[in-house]
Amino acid sequence: MLTIIEDLLTPAEVRDLCSDLTQANWVDGAQSAGSRSVKVKQNQQVERSDPLGLQLSNRLLARFGEHPQFVSATLAQKIWPPMFNRYTGGGHYGLHVDAALMHHPELGLDLRSDISGTLFLNDPDEYEGGELQIETAFGAQSVKLPKGHLVLYPSSSLHQVTPVTHGTRVAAVTWIQSSVSDDSARTMLHELDQSIQSLSAHVDSQGEVENLVRLYHNLLRRWASA
Ligand code: NI
Repeated sequence: MLTIIEDLLTPAEVRDLCSDLTQANWVDGAQSAGSRSVKVKQNQQVERSDPLGLQLSNRLLARFGEHPQFVSATLAQKIWPPMFNRYTGGGHYGLHVDAALMHHPELGLDLRSDISGTLFLNDPDEYEGGELQIETAFGAQSVKLPKGHLVLYPSSSLHQVTPVTHGTRVAAVTWIQSSVSDDSARTMLHELDQSIQSLSAHVDSQGEVENLVRLYHNLLRRWASA
């Protein structure tokens, strides 16, 4: 399922981040593509070992970890340090699926990608094209969000970024290994958690809410790996 988290960053935070990003070391994105995706990937990204890039990436990781909706939607065990990319002058990333197993040599990080995320770092009216199109059971969904918004989608889906025909599209991408690898189980847990959160604010009978919390944790106990 697609989950959109609005305003993960404020406009001021995005502005600071983008201003810092202009100083980073941008390289051809095809360098980090697998042998199949190198043919379809045409963008730029901040070099993985760039110290400034790593610092900005850590800033985002901290925000992810403190955002209740991110935590609830992902049940993250491991998070790939967000990578910054930009598309301009017809740049695109054709239809592909993200690698299931990922290895980060500098960090010694091994991760199974369950969830892919794209954080938009500029507004839709700043570029033409550049839609993130995700194939779902209900057809292709096109996503193009205001800056500071994050979309999460199953890493198992085929997806693409359509050509940016005018302006520049800037974004951060990440991959998450979840405690609950099954997308439908994780989605049900997230929906249950969201209902519990809103019921807690309105319902007088806290005993009933506690009972739902118990069910939530018992389902988590059944489905999660530690
Ligand atoms: Ni991808």
